[in-house]
Amino acid sequence: AKRVLTDTFNRTHNYLRISLTERCNLRCLYCMPENGVPLQADDKLLSSQEIVQLSKLFVSQGVDKIRLTGGEPTVRKDFLPLFEEIGSIEGLKELAITSNGIALPRKLPFLKDAGLTAVNISLDTLVEAKFNFFTRRRGLQRVLDAIDKAIEVGVPKVKVNTVVMRGQNDDEILDFVEMTKNKPIQVRFIEYMPFEGNKWSNKKMVSYFEMLDIITRKYHISPITHRPGDTAKNFSVAGHMGSVGFITSMTSNFCSTCNRLRITADGNMKVCLFGNEEVSLRDMLRSGATEAEMLELIGLAVGRKKGAHADMDLLKTMKNRPMILIGG
Ligand code: GTP
Ligand code: 5AD
Ligand code: SF4
Repeated sequence: AKRVLTDTFNRTHNYLRISLTERCNLRCLYCMPENGVPLQADDKLLSSQEIVQLSKLFVSQGVDKIRLTGGEPTVRKDFLPLFEEIGSIEGLKELAITSNGIALPRKLPFLKDAGLTAVNISLDTLVEAKFNFFTRRRGLQRVLDAIDKAIEVGVPKVKVNTVVMRGQNDDEILDFVEMTKNKPIQVRFIEYMPFEGNKWSNKKMVSYFEMLDIITRKYHISPITHRPGDTAKNFSVAGHMGSVGFITSMTSNFCSTCNRLRITADGNMKVCLFGNEEVSLRDMLRSGATEAEMLELIGLAVGRKKGAHADMDLLKTMKNRPMILIGG
């Protein structure tokens, strides 16, 4: 029988990203449109029970890694009990979150005990005034504390996500590499990507090639192995405890090994970050569909997944959600 989560390019999808909320306690320039996003009524969003139900359904079809995103996942009201429940699903090998870190320091001990295996913390600058400007809020110190706390409680994988923007934080690339000297973390430099309302332009994007050039003038770095489906090209840095990586969605996509599916906070499945085809799992669930009917719908959507996302020029004109409503 055809595997539900295998597509026509023979890619199997074992990694599910679930957005827990459309809200955030920061308002990053590259993510949240200037005037925010209209908030949907609570009953349009998945309940925790529905999230657990869908998680189990996907795990029964081979998903063994779930990443919780947002908005900011920690601002969901019942985040901790929901996390714990997902953490107890039989068959799940990895349970990760992507967070801005603001509310993490206090929550990390609990999360670690409930099965957190990886945390990716977004941080684009080490300069407080710039942090306040980029995020339109405050909290640099709390994010730095979150990184240290994640290491301290022993989360197996701790990564820092840094979106590099020309003229904004490209002068801090070396400082971020320096962060990996005494911390067992991976700092990943991300090419700036276009989403609804984020004023992306080709000029603001700093390419992988440029970043490598800046870094290799000062550091000796060597490629390290890459797991299939990894977004990042990874490198060790001579003499450093941590490592660096590059997420090159714009200049060299990694679609051919894509292993991920997404569920938005309002219950739509997205088969590609840059695809605007969505199917409502929420409506299906609420109409009382059987498991078999759900799997059929999911299988059809996976079957329509394209081999790769469009090129840079097309992407910036494509209709998509703002990043805050996708979760990365
Ligand atoms: P790992 O599980 O650590 O590999 O995390 P990740 O890189 O998949 O997720 P994270 O939420 O930390 O996202 C880091 C960056 O990768 C963000 O800029 C995401 O938008 C981007 N990203 C995540 N998944 C995809 C994808 O499927 N395609 C593309 N082009 N970018 C992605
Ligand atoms: N381009 C690249 N990465 C982005 N992120 C948010 N918006 C963008 C963008 N426009 C990253 C955040 C977060 C992850 C979920 O996606 O830094 O770490
Ligand atoms: Fe919030 Fe993350 Fe978007 Fe920043 S990037 S506004 S922290 S969801």
